[in-house]
Amino acid sequence: MKAGGQSSTPTATTVAIRILTLTLIFSFSQALLETPQEPTILQVTDDPNIPILNTKLSRNHVYNQFRVYMETYGKNYSTGKEYMHRLGIFAKNLARAAEHQMLDPTAVHGVTQFSDLSEEEFESLYTGLKGPTTATPLMDGVGGEAEKLEVDGLPESFDWREKGAVTEVKTQGTCGSCWAFSTTGAMEGANFIATGKLLNLSEQQLVDCDHVCDIKQKDTCDNGCGGGLMTNAYKYLIDAGGLMEESAYPYTGRREECKFDPDKTAVKVANFTNIPIDENQIAANLVHRGPLAVGLNAVFMQTYIGGVSCPIICGKRWLNHGVLLVGYGAKGFSILRLGNQPYWIIKNSWGKTWGEHGYYRLCRGHAMCGINTMVSAVATQVL
Ligand SMILES: *[C@@H]1O[C@H](CO)[C@@H](O)[C@H](O)[C@H]1NC(C)=O
Ligand SMILES: *[C@@H]1O[C@H](CO)[C@@H](O)[C@H](O)[C@H]1NC(C)=O
Ligand SMILES: *[C@@H]1O[C@H](CO)[C@@H](O)[C@H](O)[C@H]1NC(C)=O
Repeated sequence: MKAGGQSSTPTATTVAIRILTLTLIFSFSQALLETPQEPTILQVTDDPNIPILNTKLSRNHVYNQFRVYMETYGKNYSTGKEYMHRLGIFAKNLARAAEHQMLDPTAVHGVTQFSDLSEEEFESLYTGLKGPTTATPLMDGVGGEAEKLEVDGLPESFDWREKGAVTEVKTQGTCGSCWAFSTTGAMEGANFIATGKLLNLSEQQLVDCDHVCDIKQKDTCDNGCGGGLMTNAYKYLIDAGGLMEESAYPYTGRREECKFDPDKTAVKVANFTNIPIDENQIAANLVHRGPLAVGLNAVFMQTYIGGVSCPIICGKRWLNHGVLLVGYGAKGFSILRLGNQPYWIIKNSWGKTWGEHGYYRLCRGHAMCGINTMVSAVATQVL
């Protein structure tokens, strides 16, 4: 789609209908927030009546925003055709950000580094979680269900960053390796808890060397920049003998030949467990066992700028991104009263310029975006 293809201005009636629709969606949304059951994803990208492109004023606005975007992110398109193609996607994404803002009023949505990518491009280039929608436990002593922990008396808020268990936010680049970053994050935290030392661990080793397949879904295998699963990665690490440091095996963002050197193993897996879908259990495991590898549906993350994301509707079954749960808070700040939500603090792997210095806050207690469905904890051995 090209920006500026349409020149008609919406009539008063269509505007009124839109406002009415928005109001209805909004009230509906508040009802849904009380009982967030079985949501489906609203398809918002292909709306031919995107109001933002329908007026001359908006057209200039889109061009200006795109110019600022290109400057801010150092974008350069090789041909005029490519420029127009990206401009069209950018315009759609402006509309999608506005839509996300409406569906997710407690967060701020807008232009991000990903605003010139279609939703499909974004998903294939920057996420990379694949496989079963819920982790399938191994029943051989490692990778089973976690035991129930006491949930009374947990702190109101908790943050592993303050305790020094979390490395700097990293950048996966255009590679679907989120699963490797989620895995190293959990390993870094577990190793810190076991030894008191924070090591930066190697994602590239996982990208290059780990081809482990899920025990139940045999076609779901870890596949470098083509996606993977954190629980498969723990199994790989048990088999391979451990994980090297980032400095010894640096990230390149491309699948290459495996260069794992067992003599340079820095951290070994002792065991790992899957955490039940109960968010109180997730909090207890986080506090007692360290940062947790989690999968979620990243649909709102492409336009996320900050705040507590608590979308009205976010599919729970389409997990497509692996991240690291590092803490939680009691009350999220928001302009709207609706926004006072307890939240999770999530470390992402899209660099520090994305989101809140590389972090995402997602509301807690609503099974939001499937955050509770693929959660694992790992313990490391002291070498
Ligand atoms: C964009 O790329 C073209 C061709 O590669 C180059 O000539 C031009 O200087 C670049 N512009 C910017 C702003 O980087
Ligand atoms: C860890 O590695 C990342 C990615 O290579 C780097 O940006 C960061 O500075 C490193 N942090 C430490 C503490 O070494
Ligand atoms: C996992 O390993 C840790 C560290 O060695 C140990 O304390 C813990 O009991 C183990 N858990 C299970 C379920 O084996």
